Amino acid sequence: MRILSGIQPSGALHIGNYFGMMRPAVALQAEGEALYFVADYHALTSLRDPETLRANSRRVALDFLACGLDPERATLFRHSDVPQVTELAWILSTLAPMGLLERATSYKDKLARGMSANVGLFSYPILMAADILIYDSDVVPVGKDQKQHIEITRDLAVKMNETYGQIFKLPEPRIQPETETVPGIDGQKMSKSYGNNIDIFGDEKEMRKRVMSIVTDSTPVDAPKDPASSTIFKLYSLVAPKNEIAEMRERFLKGGTGYGDFKKQLFEKLWEYFAPMRQRREEILADRSYIAAVLARGAKRANEIADRVMERVRKAIGLR
Ligand code: ADP
Ligand code: TRP
Repeated sequence: MRILSGIQPSGALHIGNYFGMMRPAVALQAEGEALYFVADYHALTSLRDPETLRANSRRVALDFLACGLDPERATLFRHSDVPQVTELAWILSTLAPMGLLERATSYKDKLARGMSANVGLFSYPILMAADILIYDSDVVPVGKDQKQHIEITRDLAVKMNETYGQIFKLPEPRIQPETETVPGIDGQKMSKSYGNNIDIFGDEKEMRKRVMSIVTDSTPVDAPKDPASSTIFKLYSLVAPKNEIAEMRERFLKGGTGYGDFKKQLFEKLWEYFAPMRQRREEILADRSYIAAVLARGAKRANEIADRVMERVRKAIGLR
């Protein structure tokens, strides 16, 4: 089984990335050949500062390694180290119906959030399809927001197969139901671009501040509160042991505790949860050549697979 996923270096990674994609991706390393990449080509749709792009890309690689990606078991590489993927994206685009992309909700969401409507943003799902198909991927661990992109990938693979004969495997999304959409501090989906994120590796003061600014309703301290609709409770459920989650639920239902106290409790658990990863991150940082070496090795392996698949594609469609 081949497992593949990518993450954009468009900003610091947050706990939605962690629980939605990185933790499942790390768990899948044991189940097959995993390839994970830093999607720098994708980040170009929103990021135009070369130094920031370089720094973010390195940081995403670092953070992913700190969160448990094991380069002895999985391949970690930079998207742009496999430029053949843009060739495949072009090939797929020649078969992609406009309507398929026009229906993509993430494009519409991004416009609604004020991003500029560039062609790259519009055709982004085609590049993502190429990312997946170029490695003959079977399984793609992602958060729920990416589900439609994987459906588009499957549609494009079917179109290619119908037109040129069996070229591509159809990949399956792997979405964890309990962490498919981690809420941000405003209760909406947590996202780098929505400013509602709690970063995995922010410093203590910053993480505390973000947690303390989680938006709550105006239920008075004494009144019972609804755990199911509370962002505090949802996030606590991700990081606390079962018995402590049950305890917090009871205290919500009983009343008598203010949201401020629950937030403090959440912060403590969050900080503790990520402590081993912070330590691993320091260790990686101490070895100055480690990340570059991992990425170089990853690029080599990713290219081996991509070159093979591209030869198959070029032959099948008449470019060879
Ligand atoms: P962002 O929306 O912050 O820019 P990305 O689009 O780079 O994040 O997402 C990288 C991965 O993390 C994707 O698989 C995505 O589905 C997952 N992810 C991002 N935000 C969340 C969230 N709030 N809940 C669950 N998964 C998420
Ligand atoms: N679109 C994904 C995101 O924004 C990142 C991504 C790019 C990806 N290519 C991919 C994820 C291929 C999985 C497979 O989060």
